[in-house]
Amino acid sequence: MNTTSIEQAQKADLKEIFALEQLCFDAEAFTRRQLRYLLSQARSYFLLTKQEGKISSFMILLKKKNSSGLRLYSIAVNPKFRGQGLAQILLKEAVARATADGYKYVTLEVSEINKPAVNLYLQQGFEVFGERKAYYKNGSSALLMRKAV
Ligand SMILES: CC(C)(COP(=O)(O)OP(=O)(O)OC[C@H]1O[C@@H](n2cnc3c(N)ncnc32)[C@H](O)[C@@H]1OP(=O)(O)O)[C@@H](O)C(=O)NCCC(=O)NCCS
Repeated sequence: MNTTSIEQAQKADLKEIFALEQLCFDAEAFTRRQLRYLLSQARSYFLLTKQEGKISSFMILLKKKNSSGLRLYSIAVNPKFRGQGLAQILLKEAVARATADGYKYVTLEVSEINKPAVNLYLQQGFEVFGERKAYYKNGSSALLMRKAV
């Protein structure tokens, strides 16, 4: 998996990205319209990987002006390709971009009950620095996490 290349998502990828979004997130999934907006605006990095000609994962990073953190807005791996290190590769790319752009941190929010994701972030050196109680539609709290770059 070390040779996996990361590509910039294109508008033509929207249909497949939307299908993957719906597969990976239920009540919290972005709408097609939200994804189209994120794909078209300059203040985000919308990145993806492909396996067997299909989109296997994607990641959205938001660049906010006057912020010390590059925000990991979404990350999703197709269930068929999980457990192979794809998310780790994407997070390393997020850290590399944050470093290159002069940010101090990569920041994110994650549901406290999303154990695969919380484990992933802890394993990649993120730490919890805050919490938003009952933040998600299922009533779970959001952990605010960040990694210094
Ligand atoms: C979370 C997610 C992105 C992980 O993707 P992945 O490519 O399977 O993750 P990796 O193979 O890179 O695993 C890296 C680490 O994450 C953690 N992890 C991944 N899947 C896990 C699972 N099912 N249970 C527990 N820990 C898990 C482990 O620490 C793992 O390291 P290890 O393999 O050395 O144990 C993927 O499960 C996913 O798309 N989930 C649905 C969308 C989502 O919840 N996104 C995060 C929103 S904040």
